[in-house]
Amino acid sequence: MVKICCLGAGYVGGPTMAVIALKCPKIEVVVVDISTARISAWNSDQLPIYEPGLDEVVKECRGRNLFFSTDLEKHISEADIIFVSVNTPTKTCGLGAGKAADLTYWESAARMIADVSKSDKIVVEKSTVPVKTAEAIEKILTHNSKGINYQILSNPEFLAEGTAIQDLFNPDRVLIGGRETPEGRNAVQALKQVYANWVPEDRILTTNLWSAELSKLAANAFLAQRISSVNAISALCEATGADVAEVAYAVGKDTRIGPKFLNASVGFGGSCFQKDILNLVYICDCNGLPEVSEYWKQVVKINDYQKSRFVNRVVSSMFNTVAGKKIAVLGFAFKKDTGDTRETPAIDVCKGLLGDKAKVSIYDPQVTEDQIGRDLAMNKFDWDHPIHLQPMSPTAANKQVTVTWDAYEATKEAHGVCILTEWDEFKKLDYKKIYDGMQKPAFVFDGRNVVDAGKLREIGFIVYSIGKPL
Ligand code: NAD
Ligand code: UGA
Repeated sequence: MVKICCLGAGYVGGPTMAVIALKCPKIEVVVVDISTARISAWNSDQLPIYEPGLDEVVKECRGRNLFFSTDLEKHISEADIIFVSVNTPTKTCGLGAGKAADLTYWESAARMIADVSKSDKIVVEKSTVPVKTAEAIEKILTHNSKGINYQILSNPEFLAEGTAIQDLFNPDRVLIGGRETPEGRNAVQALKQVYANWVPEDRILTTNLWSAELSKLAANAFLAQRISSVNAISALCEATGADVAEVAYAVGKDTRIGPKFLNASVGFGGSCFQKDILNLVYICDCNGLPEVSEYWKQVVKINDYQKSRFVNRVVSSMFNTVAGKKIAVLGFAFKKDTGDTRETPAIDVCKGLLGDKAKVSIYDPQVTEDQIGRDLAMNKFDWDHPIHLQPMSPTAANKQVTVTWDAYEATKEAHGVCILTEWDEFKKLDYKKIYDGMQKPAFVFDGRNVVDAGKLREIGFIVYSIGKPL
């Protein structure tokens, strides 16, 4: 029986390993983590992350061939294949601060593997890492190897949150990069066999190590670039009377461009797009390619511009002041169907409104008050560094913020409503009831273009949608 161990029981490690266990009943999969709280949650009925379909998969395999444990040494030493899916945040200090990836967690994982291994291992990079990381990992492992043979593979993950299980069941592609030596090719084949249990052969791509590492950064940069492109056009739509939904539809009808990922928004969020582009920018700088670095930096700049443009629109529409006014924020997660708030545009929008002395009342169906308090109290890039994880109530952090468990409560007596996540339930709210409970004139700022602006205007709202005529 092949044994797999995965270091890192997060948004990637947990769902990915659960699906491998489901699809490969003959493989034993153990997910380990240094966080006891996370492992306890994986072993409970309240999983540490919200992801549609995940509960069912975990329930079916847990205790059969899927295990969660804090005993890193035991499971690393017993495994044939070790996935490393630890966090790779942006560095907050020192060389490359604000851009480069912080590989502290990765290096400590590699050192742990070197310390406890007693037999040959295939070590798989699952985390998103800078190009050439495999070389550094190889050095750490081989210099401490005690005669053990390690093969390093790059197998980046392309799942998106909210659709992780679907994406894992039916991936567009699985990418495996390895050394072009007989041992390297054997290792690639061994991992390919795991995925071949459910992924069609023609969707399993094999490349050299550096291509696999770079493809992940490039894919995220291309995806984020599409959003910044449509968001840049949304600003021009507002200035000219064009409608960004119509423009995006017309543009996307060109089969060379395609219709997906062209929804204008308040800005992209999530733990990876910004982090991975900044990482790409840093790698370009380090390789003496300032023009390429500038090109990609612009994707992040337009995203920041879009978020501040949104805040400016709220304040300027409300007679240039929101001081003392209640603003309801509907949605705090970075996208629907997840409770994840990492780099969510809601943080920047709320901080912007609070900076203008607004009173902010927040509702999100999946995000807790503690989480919102932590997010609003944190500095840029601190969120992915575990040391900062003390809970803090938002009321203690900032008296201007309240968190409610109901959209109607959040909007009661409010002067304006900002929709910042495209939760389906926000489309179905009783906006007449909301209007009746609000101060007048009542404003709606739809950062996700989810409501029917025409209908809301009929009720009496003043509505601002991204990239649409007023
Ligand atoms: P996460 O923060 O949710 O999980 C990482 C886990 O690793 C944490 O639970 C942490 O405690 C654990 N960890 C840290 N150091 C460890 C060590 N030495 N040994 C064992 N466990 C350790 O992060 P994530 O969202 O799962 O992302 C992990 C990686 O995958 C990142 O590189 C990210 O860029 C990449 N990625 C993420 C997504 C996504 O949707 N979140 C998608 C594709 C790729
Ligand atoms: C993204 C990629 O889609 C995954 O392929 C990748 O594996 C992952 O990053 C990663 O490396 O972490 P994720 O961040 O989970 O996945 O979610 P997306 O669906 O890509 O959305 C990212 C952000 O862009 C969200 O804030 C979303 O609301 C926004 N978005 C997305 C738009 O504003 N417009 C769109 O048309 C699409």
